[in-house]
Amino acid sequence: MKITKRYRRLRSSEAVRNLVAETTLTPDHFIVPLFIIEGKNKKEPIPSMPGYFRLSLDMLKDEILELRSLGLRSVLLFVKVPDALKDNEGKEALNPHGLMQKSIRYIKELDPEMIVMTDVALDPYSIYGHDGIVMGKEIVNDASVEVLSKMAVSHALAGADFAAPSDMMDGRVRAIRERLDEAGFERAGILSYAAKYASSFYGPFRDALDSAPGFGDKKTYQMDFRNSTEALKEVELDIEEGADIVMIKPAGAYLDIIRAVKNHVHVPVAAYQVSGEYSMIKAAAANGWLDEKQAMMESLIAIRRAGADVIASYFAKDFAKMIS
Ligand code: PBG
Repeated sequence: MKITKRYRRLRSSEAVRNLVAETTLTPDHFIVPLFIIEGKNKKEPIPSMPGYFRLSLDMLKDEILELRSLGLRSVLLFVKVPDALKDNEGKEALNPHGLMQKSIRYIKELDPEMIVMTDVALDPYSIYGHDGIVMGKEIVNDASVEVLSKMAVSHALAGADFAAPSDMMDGRVRAIRERLDEAGFERAGILSYAAKYASSFYGPFRDALDSAPGFGDKKTYQMDFRNSTEALKEVELDIEEGADIVMIKPAGAYLDIIRAVKNHVHVPVAAYQVSGEYSMIKAAAANGWLDEKQAMMESLIAIRRAGADVIASYFAKDFAKMIS
């Protein structure tokens, strides 16, 4: 037998493997989600997300400084809203002195170069835990879009660089773009959750923010996981309406969607490795069933290889520490 092709040559040492590696990933490519709570001096562990915390505003200082030192330059803010401030209109979402608005100002003062992105959706503010306004059993589209676009302006006023609408209402990207421009925030960008699936992998996040839907599910607005052509349709529309970056969510079980979108569009593509993806790796590692660092790295590189330019992940800090 004469073997003429020996592909193992390019795997023969770490240096050779590094030389020909096709996929690279650095801290520059990450968005770090942060959970912010009311109060002082609080760093609450999230039971369903081992190693992740809810932080009070004052505790953001050390966090932001640490992110900076690790080369992580972009954060995505989520707030946990006390029950007493929840309603069905998103009133607190527009409060100029609300926790979100205060957090944006705080971070921008601390580190003006940090890219501040904000979640734009009503679920943390909703007595029903839904991303929009509820009438009867329906999540009404246009009235929700109205509030969401005002919410984005309120975040921009506080200094946010990107609004990240995660609600999946129809027409919200255009409404947000128009409202931002009218208010003089042409510089503020939109990272749209363009293809967001109704996914069970959001479970731990809903614990973290106490934002699980009080009735029903989110299948009338988030996408059906049996579909992929629909993702292209949603992404195209968001780009047409003014999205600067489009995001696919979740990531790990949707690598085919990330690749299809990447091949289809000419804007940066982001992917969100969501809470359930993080917690699955953490849980298996805690049981000694797999190596946490290796599994983390493999999952992140796979998302990047699939075509994600940008990755939102709860592993961002662990990744940055591992490669430094
Ligand atoms: C809310 C929102 C969710 C996530 C991000 N924004 C939850 C949901 O849609 O129910 C999930 C993030 C995660 O699981 O890490 N609009």
